[in-house]
Amino acid sequence: MAEQESKHYDVTMQEEECFYPPVEFIGQANCTDPSIYERFSLENFPECFKEHADLLDWDDYWHTTLDTSDAPCWKWFVGGKLNVCHNCVDRHLQQHRNKTAIYFVPELEEERIQKITYQELYRRVNETAAILRDFAGLKAGDRVTLHLPMTPELPITMLACARLGVIHSEVFSGFSGKACADRIWDSESEVLITMDAYYRSGNLIDHKSKADEAVEAADKQGQKVNKVLIWQRYPGTYNGEQSIVEGRDYFMNDLLQQYKGSEVEPVSMPAEEPLFLMYTSGSTGRPKGCVHSTGGYLAYVAWMSKYVQDIHPEDVYWCMADIGWITGHSFIVYGPLAVAGSTVIYEGVPTYPDPGRPWRVAEELGVNIFHTSPTAIRGLRKAGGDLPLQYNHQFKHMTTVGEPIEPEVWRWYYNVVGKGKAVVVDTWWMTETGGFLCSTMPAVDPMKPGSAGPGLPGIYPVVLDDEGKEIQPGENRAGNLCIRNPWPGGMQSIWKNRERYVKTYYSPYNKDPNSTDWRDWPYMAGDAAVIASDNYVRILGRVDDVLNVAGHRLGTKEIESAALTVDEVAEAAVVSVQDEVKGTVPDLYVSLKPGEEPSEDLARRISTAVSDVVGKIARPAHVYIVADMPKTRSGKIMRRILASISNRKDVGDVMTLANPHIVEEIRQQVQG
Ligand code: WTA
Repeated sequence: MAEQESKHYDVTMQEEECFYPPVEFIGQANCTDPSIYERFSLENFPECFKEHADLLDWDDYWHTTLDTSDAPCWKWFVGGKLNVCHNCVDRHLQQHRNKTAIYFVPELEEERIQKITYQELYRRVNETAAILRDFAGLKAGDRVTLHLPMTPELPITMLACARLGVIHSEVFSGFSGKACADRIWDSESEVLITMDAYYRSGNLIDHKSKADEAVEAADKQGQKVNKVLIWQRYPGTYNGEQSIVEGRDYFMNDLLQQYKGSEVEPVSMPAEEPLFLMYTSGSTGRPKGCVHSTGGYLAYVAWMSKYVQDIHPEDVYWCMADIGWITGHSFIVYGPLAVAGSTVIYEGVPTYPDPGRPWRVAEELGVNIFHTSPTAIRGLRKAGGDLPLQYNHQFKHMTTVGEPIEPEVWRWYYNVVGKGKAVVVDTWWMTETGGFLCSTMPAVDPMKPGSAGPGLPGIYPVVLDDEGKEIQPGENRAGNLCIRNPWPGGMQSIWKNRERYVKTYYSPYNKDPNSTDWRDWPYMAGDAAVIASDNYVRILGRVDDVLNVAGHRLGTKEIESAALTVDEVAEAAVVSVQDEVKGTVPDLYVSLKPGEEPSEDLARRISTAVSDVVGKIARPAHVYIVADMPKTRSGKIMRRILASISNRKDVGDVMTLANPHIVEEIRQQVQG
C-alpha cells in the first residue's frame, strides 16, 4: 500500500464573488421557496423525504419512511410497491403521449436526429421487455450486464429491465472486454446485451468483439454467459468485425420481428428491491457493485430533476455525460423521464466535427437546460474562446459535475456558454449516492464559483478530522467530507459484499457497530473538503487511491495490476498529474524484473496493456521505466514522491527513505 498523504491541511482560498440567479429563471422555477431548508430540517428527518416519494405513482403505498434496523443498510419507503418503468413511461402517456421523450443525436452531423415520443418509447420498451422475458428467460431479481454505447437502445433496454424487475448492470462502453467480464462475473449475469458498433470521432468503431472477449474471460472466471443479445447501430446491417456465434448471439432486430406489438405488464416491485448495479472504482483492485434501490432511488432522482435541474415537461434537457456512468443513469434516463422531460442523447464526442457542435445541437433542438463536466468545459473553452457567443442557443440552467471546477473556468461557462443568463449549479455527488448531495438550489441560493454549494434540502454535510472531530465551517481547514444522515438515493450496499460497504463508508467514524441509530453512522465520502462560513462546500479531491481522470473514477490498483500483466514489469505505481483540460491524468512508474532492459517498445506495450485491460480512458499520459521505486524502510512505494516529481513540485524531505538517492535520479529522468 502507498503511504497516504496527510489529509489535513490549512487551506487559504480566495473568497469568490457570488453571482445571483437571474430573475427570469426565478420567475419560472419549480422551487423558489427559501423556507424549503426548514421543511427539510433535521427535526423533520426522515419524514421530510415523503415529498420525494410523493412524486411517484405507487401500487402500494409505503408504511415506514426509513427503517434503520439493519444499519447502515438503510431501507426507505418500506412496504411500498411500484414499477420504475411505469413511472418513467406509462404514466406520462395520458398527457404527453406525443411529446418527445428522447432526442437521439448521432455523432455524424448529416445523420437525421431521431425523436422518440413517449408513445413510441412505450412500444419499444414493451417489445424489448417481451424479448428479455420470453426469449432470454429473465425474471425479477436476475442480473443482466449491458455494454451499450450512447444510443436510444441503452435507455430502452434499461427501462425494459426495470419493467420486469430485472437488475441491470451497465458497463461504460469505453471499458474493455476484460473489465466487462469482471462485472459479468461479479454480478453473475447469464445474459450480455451489447451493440455491434458505434461512432466515435467520426469513425464507426467495432464494439461486438469486446463482447466475445468478455464472454470468454468471464467463462474462464467461472461465469457462463448463455446469450449475447446484439443491437445494431443500423438495424438490419451488421457492422461488427467478429462473426456471430451460433446458438449464443442473437440480433435484437431479428427478435423484434417476432415480438412486434407485444405488451408486458409492469412487475410491481417492493421499494427495497435493487433497480440496478453500477460498478465503481475503489481503493482496492476489484470494482465495487453499488446497489441502487427501486423506490428510494427513483424518488430521489425525480425530486432532484424537478427542483435542482428544474426540468419542466416543456423543457429540452441535455446532459452530455455517458449513460454508462451514474450521471447518465440518474440524469439522462431515470430522473428526467420520471418527471416527463425531454432528454437528449448525444452519441459522440462534444468537439466532433468541431467545437461548435454542442451549440448547433442546442440551437436546433431548443435545448434550454445543459449539463456537463469541467473537463468538457475546459476542452470547449480551449478549442474556441468565445465560440458559443456566435450561436443562438439560450440556456436557462446549466450544471457542472464530476470534478472541482476552477473559478476561471466557471466564469467562462457562466458568461460565454450561458451568456450570463443561465443559472449554474455545481453538483457534488458520487456513484454511491445515487443523486446530488451538495449544490445550490438554483432559484434560492447565490452561486459561488468553485464551490458546490451547501447540502441540498435534507442533506447534512460535515467535515471531520482523522479523530472524528468536527471541523467547523469557516475554520479554513480541510478534512474528510461526510454526510450525517441517510437519504433515499443512497446505495443499499456493495453487491454481495456488505462487509466492504460498511468498512469503506461507515467504519471510519462509527463508534458502535451495533447501533441502529442513524446518528451513529456518518457516511464518509472519500473526498477532502472545506466548508466555508456560509456552509458552501468546496471539494479538494479524493483522499483514497482513486484517480479522477476527466471526471471518471479509476482505481490506482486497477491500472497498476494491468501494468503487471506485462511480463517484464516487477512493480508499478500510478500517480495523478495536473492537466490543463482533463483536470488530472495518470502517470505510470514501473520498475523491471532483474535482467530486463527498458525500451520505448516496452513502455508502449505497458501503455497498451493498461488500455486493453481497463479501457482507453485509463491510458497513462507517460510511462516511466525507473531503476527502482522510492520506498520507505518497510518497503512501501512512496507514490506521493512520484506525484511530486510528475507535478514538478518539491519532493520534500526524502532522507528517511530506504533509497533516498533514487529520488534525484527519477527527477532528472522525468524533468530532464
Ligand atoms: C468527484 C460522479 C468536485 C468527487 C457523479 C467524488 C466532484 C467523485 C464533483 C465521484 C463536484 C463529483 N465538484 N468534485 N461537483 N462531483 N466529484 O462516482 O471526487 O464518478 O468523490 O460520480 O467525483 O465520482 P463518480
